[in-house]
Amino acid sequence: MKLSGKVAAITGAARGIGKACAKRFLDDGVKVVISDIDADGLAATAAELGRPDALRTVVGNVAKRADVDQLVATAVKEFGRLDVMVNNAGIARNQNILDITEQDFDEIIGINLKGALFGVQAAARQMIAQGGGGVIINMSSVNALLAIPTLATYAISKGGMKQLTSVAAVALAPHNIRVVAVGPGTILTDMVASSIYTSEDARKTVMSRTPAGRGGEPSEVASVVAFLASDDASYITGQTIYPDGGRLILNYTVPVKEK
Ligand SMILES: NC(=O)c1ccc[n+]([C@@H]2O[C@H](COP(=O)([O-])OP(=O)(O)OC[C@H]3O[C@@H](n4cnc5c(N)ncnc54)[C@H](O)[C@@H]3O)[C@@H](O)[C@H]2O)c1
Repeated sequence: MKLSGKVAAITGAARGIGKACAKRFLDDGVKVVISDIDADGLAATAAELGRPDALRTVVGNVAKRADVDQLVATAVKEFGRLDVMVNNAGIARNQNILDITEQDFDEIIGINLKGALFGVQAAARQMIAQGGGGVIINMSSVNALLAIPTLATYAISKGGMKQLTSVAAVALAPHNIRVVAVGPGTILTDMVASSIYTSEDARKTVMSRTPAGRGGEPSEVASVVAFLASDDASYITGQTIYPDGGRLILNYTVPVKEK
């Protein structure tokens, strides 16, 4: 119970990886505030997780600064402080780079990157006000490094998140605040069902690039988040840790057209 007594806030936690992080934190003795834009999903998840002693919910859109501030304010109001912030909310849109509209770009960057910046700012302000210390964890992706052409805006957002994590880590180190990121490979959530596993061929393509031979479980990302949030990771800051089943270390192949 290395996290026992700490207070955490998680965005995008009505389902998927965020929900798994909430469950893991509750199991580890953390008091948790979960937030999501999907009010019904959030309420259903809170009911499923139970634990009214240690769990609160806030409906909010991470692309709106006031909503993210409200999440942090709720943690302080309900549990007295904030120790861990998980900027997890994100969306992906599978599309050809030439089809990306201004609205697509603004929405994806607004949620995935601007929302994470708002989370870093809101959490850090509170952590500094309470005397320093704390951990901010950004949910990145292998797409921070990989170039998958049908996920261009998503990849751009996660690439930006890599630098957000590095810059914020340096800026906040004097306050003893660690800023880290987790970059999962393919994890079996609704996002993957709707945007990645768009066909059986697409699923096989991902598997052909995943040495572990399977998609990851949300709990296998949550366990990395729990480690990074704990003092076991006290000397890790500014880095992205990739639970990816070996995906990033593969040397990719491309179709060869002999001339
Ligand atoms: N599943 C994967 O394979 C995978 C891989 C790498 C990174 N990630 C990242 O992990 C995070 C969670 O992904 P997931 O697979 O659990 O996705 P998911 O779609 O299952 O869940 C995302 C949650 O975020 C919420 N959300 C969406 N827009 C929001 C907004 N504007 N404000 C607040 N909440 C919002 C959704 O309602 C949903 O509950 C994302 O940042 C994603 O990019 C996922």
